[in-house]
Amino acid sequence: MTTFVVIGHKVTTEGKFSLNDLSGSTGRLDVLLRCVNSAFMLSNSIRRDVELYLVLLGEPRPPVMIHLKGQELKYLNPDERSTGALVKNALMKTANDVWQKSTPGIYVARKNLADVLAEFTGRRIVYLKEEGSSVSDAALTGNDIFILGGKDDLTSEEEEIIQNWPNTLKISLGPISLHADHCITVALNRLDNSS
Ligand SMILES: C[S@@+](CC[C@H](N)C(=O)[O-])C[C@H]1O[C@@H](n2cnc3c(N)ncnc32)[C@H](O)[C@@H]1O
Repeated sequence: MTTFVVIGHKVTTEGKFSLNDLSGSTGRLDVLLRCVNSAFMLSNSIRRDVELYLVLLGEPRPPVMIHLKGQELKYLNPDERSTGALVKNALMKTANDVWQKSTPGIYVARKNLADVLAEFTGRRIVYLKEEGSSVSDAALTGNDIFILGGKDDLTSEEEEIIQNWPNTLKISLGPISLHADHCITVALNRLDNSS
């Protein structure tokens, strides 16, 4: 299972937003919705061996985590609006520290980055960062956990949590700063070509 964790520092934690304003009052939920598309959508199918965690740290009550599991996902379409509706449904639930199912393959809980890393014991983290070691020199595996920022870079506190993980690589996909969803596409493409 390949895991992606994307952090949305200002993304809303409640489902009251309008689907007509996904890039405005939501704190740039649209960026994370494009990450959902990149993580799962293939031409005519879905990547079943991928999971994605969206860490929402905006108002009014952060943190909230959305977990999308490729193995179970249903009703996922390529457009941002319908994916936005799935996330909105999940955020309408009253999240607590136990995962609750919203729709098939989509779960919600009140968890932060450190909480979710505790679920990954024994696995390797690949922290995607422009200034990391070149991906050309790294042997990425389909069991890695890729962590990246959404619209903004990780904070120093988040970087510290990752750097304290027993098995972490800091990897650059290239010298140019990319959008988060494009980073996911590039990483998956490298995995596709190495397997
Ligand atoms: C849109 S970028 C964040 C803002 C960007 N660093 C900037 O200053 O404009 C989102 C995230 O994608 C990842 N990222 C972007 N370009 C990358 C690259 N070339 N190599 C590795 N990760 C990258 C990083 O995790 C970054 O925080």
